[in-house]
Amino acid sequence: MWSRCGRPVHLVDKNPAQLERASREIQKLRQAWPLASLPGDRSNTEWGIATMTSLDDLEGAMKKSWLAIECVPETRTLKRTVLQELDTLAPADVIVASNSSSFTISELLQGLKLKAPDRFASIHSYWPPETTPVEIMGAESTRPEIIEQLMIESKVHGFQPFHVRQTSTGYIYNRIWAAIKRETLQVLDEGVATPEEIDSLFKAVLQTPKGPCAQMDTVGLDVVLAIEEHYAEERKDLPEAPRTYLQKMIADGKLGVKSGEGFFKYE
Ligand SMILES: NC(=O)c1ccc[n+]([C@@H]2O[C@H](COP(=O)([O-])OP(=O)(O)OC[C@H]3O[C@@H](n4cnc5c(N)ncnc54)[C@H](O)[C@@H]3O)[C@@H](O)[C@H]2O)c1
Repeated sequence: MWSRCGRPVHLVDKNPAQLERASREIQKLRQAWPLASLPGDRSNTEWGIATMTSLDDLEGAMKKSWLAIECVPETRTLKRTVLQELDTLAPADVIVASNSSSFTISELLQGLKLKAPDRFASIHSYWPPETTPVEIMGAESTRPEIIEQLMIESKVHGFQPFHVRQTSTGYIYNRIWAAIKRETLQVLDEGVATPEEIDSLFKAVLQTPKGPCAQMDTVGLDVVLAIEEHYAEERKDLPEAPRTYLQKMIADGKLGVKSGEGFFKYE
């Protein structure tokens, strides 16, 4: 997406095998989604070059960039280390963003010694190019112009940007989706309905292809639990029953699609 307007993109990963996989994946995506089929600015019809950059060349890449997005695994300490490093290496006018799904940028910046704390934001994607929304969220220290620039640039690049107007764990969509998952688990725990019944009802009413139980199976029940535990750390008012229900399923080896069984069975 970020290379669709002719600008170069530097992909940086500590694992060279991942860069090769990324390169192959980008080629596949470019073939499946030709430029003409993507929304956004069409003034430049050439793909930008996607350069595979080793960690040693990170500083050089930062000097040529206007935006750096960290996408390292979802661990608070690792994300903080990487954000601190990016702040040290990036010239002060480079925007530094996090793609974290569950940590707000305010939380990640806590305790860091930053030379330019006003240039940080969260920019959370779904599954582009198929699903184009991105949610953009600042910290208390973020300059408003940074948010404005990210809203404009992401739109130009074919994303559908939404501004998260307050610090919000889970952004907008994931937070509402978390409430649906939580209540689904509560309904199951109370024996009100079966997974089959919940998904059939949900699909029939909302005219959507997947119900919440199948969707949780796809994500993985261990991941669903980790996300819910993070919400529960912040919000003491959340019920415990949904987490206990998930813990029992996980203890029985039911992790969803990846283990062959969750709420449903998989081949
Ligand atoms: N998977 C999704 O659908 C999705 C969607 C939206 C946001 N996210 C967010 O994106 C981030 C990454 O998730 P993922 O699923 O792509 O994880 P992943 O584990 O598939 O990829 C993480 C990559 O980071 C690399 N890495 C690890 N430590 C590094 C370091 N110190 N320096 C450079 N590279 C390093 C790894 O080699 C790996 O290639 C998470 O914050 C997640 O919340 C994921």
